[in-house]
Amino acid sequence: MTPVPEGAGAQQSGPLLDVRDLHVEFRTREGVAKAVNGVNYSVNAGETLAVLGESGSGKSVTAQAVMGILDTPPGYVTGGQVLFQGQDLLRMSGEERRKVRGARMAMVFQDALSSLNPVLSVGEQLGEMFRVHRGMSRKDSRAKAVELMDRVRIPAAAERVRQYPHQFSGGMRQRVMIAMAMALEPDLIIADEPTTALDVTVQAQVMDLLAELQREYNMGLILITHDLGVVADVADKIAVMYAGRIIETSPVHDIYRAPAHPYTRGLLDSIPRLDQKGRELYAIKGLPPNLLHIPPGCAFHPRCPRAQQVCRTDVPPLYQVSTVRASACHFWKETLDDAGTDQN
Ligand SMILES: Nc1ncnc2c1ncn2[C@@H]1O[C@H](COP(=O)(O)OP(=O)(O)OP(=O)(O)O)[C@@H](O)[C@H]1O
Ligand code: SF4
Ligand SMILES: [Mg+2]
Repeated sequence: MTPVPEGAGAQQSGPLLDVRDLHVEFRTREGVAKAVNGVNYSVNAGETLAVLGESGSGKSVTAQAVMGILDTPPGYVTGGQVLFQGQDLLRMSGEERRKVRGARMAMVFQDALSSLNPVLSVGEQLGEMFRVHRGMSRKDSRAKAVELMDRVRIPAAAERVRQYPHQFSGGMRQRVMIAMAMALEPDLIIADEPTTALDVTVQAQVMDLLAELQREYNMGLILITHDLGVVADVADKIAVMYAGRIIETSPVHDIYRAPAHPYTRGLLDSIPRLDQKGRELYAIKGLPPNLLHIPPGCAFHPRCPRAQQVCRTDVPPLYQVSTVRASACHFWKETLDDAGTDQN
């Protein structure tokens, strides 16, 4: 069992984004909350990485640190590297990072209504991207806004460009958010729960749109979600987070077939599956840890059905499970074997 040093999944040509040993903490009156504790993940051009984990596991904070939009204070990046196209973003000046943001990497948030400006028309907001970043005239940027709205399949774009965010449905607003993110044709998009606020049919449409744009532009996409069901069709690989660490990384199909970490196993067993109708759904017992007091050893041990004495004392490194998989569990092999046995 060899620990993986960092950047599991990285390719020789160099990934588009390579997050290495990232640490983020929040200094609050109650104490220091260790929200991100050595995250490693990478994304290549044209690839979709899904980041999964329960609420509070550090998915959004990691994304904010990558984008350079962390709330400081109270949040501080205390270690690591964020290599984007080979350059460490954490060493750039504020001005340089601002140039990268929007133009080369962009973010789509869950809640379009609070991310869009309520007193500006959608066209003005989309157009602003081109005026500010590309120095276009008002007229040209308006034309660009209509073009973008067409591209994200908002019907009657030429008329709707004058409307305000509240005049759009939830799904259409999310398309506007995607259009904003796509405006300058970035190389990477981070979508943080982009469809959580939408109903199921609209969720699927918005997800399909994202996947299609990603293919068309060969972008890297990081898709943050609670929902393992959503990612099966769109992601190439998965990183599962727990208490601010990646505890399993794997190509999407392998992880569904046989998880190598008991936490991933618990997440998988707690989603309804059509092929197992009538089966009782499993719920992972207990709650995620308080980040002010992360348990020693494996942070998951108080909730883990497989926990042994070693789990209470020794932090499991990220073990290499195969050339493309890694798991931070002392008993990854037994966990994999179990999954195999259950299927027979
Ligand atoms: N502004 C803040 N001040 C203090 N602590 C914060 C702040 N933002 C985040 N945190 C801490 O970081 C932890 C991780 O938050 P994060 O938003 O990354 O979770 P998440 O995995 O995205 O969860 P969710 O699925 O609910 O969006 C939180 O549990 C909280 O302890
Ligand atoms: S290291 Fe131990 S406690 Fe942690 S997931 Fe593996 S078996 Fe469970
Ligand atoms: Mg979040």
